[in-house]
Amino acid sequence: MVRIENISKSFIQANNENLHALKNVSLEIRENTIFGIIGLSGAGKSTLLRSIISLEKIDCGSIFIDGIEITSLKESELRSFKKNIGVVFQGYNLLYQRNVEKNIALPLEISGWKKENIKKRVKYLIEVTGLSGKEKAYPAQLSGGQRQRVAIARALALNPKLLLLDEITSALDPRTTNQILKLLLEIKEKFRVTILLITHEIAVVSLICDEVAVLDYGEIVERGNSFDVLKHPKSTVTKMLLGKGGFC
Ligand SMILES: Nc1ncnc2c1ncn2[C@@H]1O[C@H](COP(=O)(O)OP(=O)(O)OP(=O)(O)O)[C@@H](O)[C@H]1O
Ligand SMILES: [Mg+2]
Repeated sequence: MVRIENISKSFIQANNENLHALKNVSLEIRENTIFGIIGLSGAGKSTLLRSIISLEKIDCGSIFIDGIEITSLKESELRSFKKNIGVVFQGYNLLYQRNVEKNIALPLEISGWKKENIKKRVKYLIEVTGLSGKEKAYPAQLSGGQRQRVAIARALALNPKLLLLDEITSALDPRTTNQILKLLLEIKEKFRVTILLITHEIAVVSLICDEVAVLDYGEIVERGNSFDVLKHPKSTVTKMLLGKGGFC
């Protein structure tokens, strides 16, 4: 579903130094799986996600989604291709002047859906994400978990094949985190969607990820079946995330 081959990305820092946020990263994400990217703050996780949807221009390497190399697409092709990808960015990213149903409707409105179809689709997404009764609520009136449900519903609006989720549970308590993870498992089956989940929480990986890659200072230091990686961690950073390591 997603194949990333040797991508690198650097940023020029305020002090003019070059920061290598991603170094020769390669990954393969199989269809209808949940793939976790775990790493400490600054490891390059969000840069990787932003690269996958072409919000960052990579310095070199290739990204294939469903066999299509996205870096080769023209601006207009990319815009329509991106409809296949749902994203929940780090932070809530909800529009605070719009209520729940209007937030979820946004991608449908932008895509020119008819009003009655938008209404039906939003109703369905509200049911699936467990937001019934909150249709008219504004983001400020919701809990953190409910806001993430809205963000997930909005990301699913156009029925994407790929869902990219950046730290969607990091601000939530353990019970709410579990509820959101359970929802993701349901969504994976219902929508037949492939999920890339970025997190720094090892519990999230162990609960729902089929596979995991550990990112450290822009490099993948470890990868594999999540059960195996967590049972037999090799890198210092994986051990540290598991609470077994010393200092990195
Ligand atoms: N636009 C930018 N300009 C300059 N440096 C950047 C830019 N975006 C990211 N970086 C740097 O790239 C590195 C990786 O950042 P990134 O946001 O990908 O990390 P992260 O793993 O998502 O961290 P966190 O867990 O804190 O969200 C960091 O050192 C960051 O300062
Ligand atoms: Mg990040």
